[in-house]
Amino acid sequence: MSIKDKEKWNQRYNCKRYLYGKEPSAFLRQKINILTKGDALVLAMGEGRNAVYLAQCGYNTTGIDISKFAIRKCRKLAQEKGVYINRIVADLDENEIGKVKYDLVTCFYFYDRLLLPKIIGLLKPQGMFILEQFSIDHLEHGTHGPRNPDYLVKPNELLGTFKSLKIIYYEDTIVELDAKWRQGTAAIIRLIVQNYPVEANII
Ligand SMILES: C[S@@+](CC[C@H](N)C(=O)[O-])C[C@H]1O[C@@H](n2cnc3c(N)ncnc32)[C@H](O)[C@@H]1O
Repeated sequence: MSIKDKEKWNQRYNCKRYLYGKEPSAFLRQKINILTKGDALVLAMGEGRNAVYLAQCGYNTTGIDISKFAIRKCRKLAQEKGVYINRIVADLDENEIGKVKYDLVTCFYFYDRLLLPKIIGLLKPQGMFILEQFSIDHLEHGTHGPRNPDYLVKPNELLGTFKSLKIIYYEDTIVELDAKWRQGTAAIIRLIVQNYPVEANII
């Protein structure tokens, strides 16, 4: 990530409007009851829609983002909802995430192939990772969003990256988005994996 990218995100977030809304991702909300409870880490958390929701659901939540403006908006949203988020401004491409382990790690609409394998080491036993991101099919079907293949998930790619973990949920699909902040067609991947000794269970 270059300084230019950091500036780009700061410029985008330097406004009153919540670019991604204040409501959590529908996928996160749908799956909340099966996710491991406890300490959560929200990667590239943006303005905090998912981080604040997790805190409201009882998670002890930490969020990281490269943009100080996004982090400020997250603080405001957390105050509005009466919860606390441990907020960190950091570049995920350049910093080690640390040695703390989590019960839940989330990554929504931020894709970094070098970061993904490191997430496995962040999970406590039984800890889960949940992701939602545009797939490569988005180039054909998407009406908005990224066009750079570096940021688009290839078919079954994540099943390989997380093959040492238990796959709890995997979906490669085309959806019609119906959020207040975004409508249109999107090709997306949804994934939940769990740090569970997969090989021990193969007879
Ligand atoms: C498309 S937004 C998604 C925000 C949030 N995950 C959501 O779903 O509302 C991508 C986010 O990634 C953050 N980001 C981009 N590059 C980053 C990096 N290298 N390190 C940390 N955060 C980064 C941006 O600031 C932005 O908030």
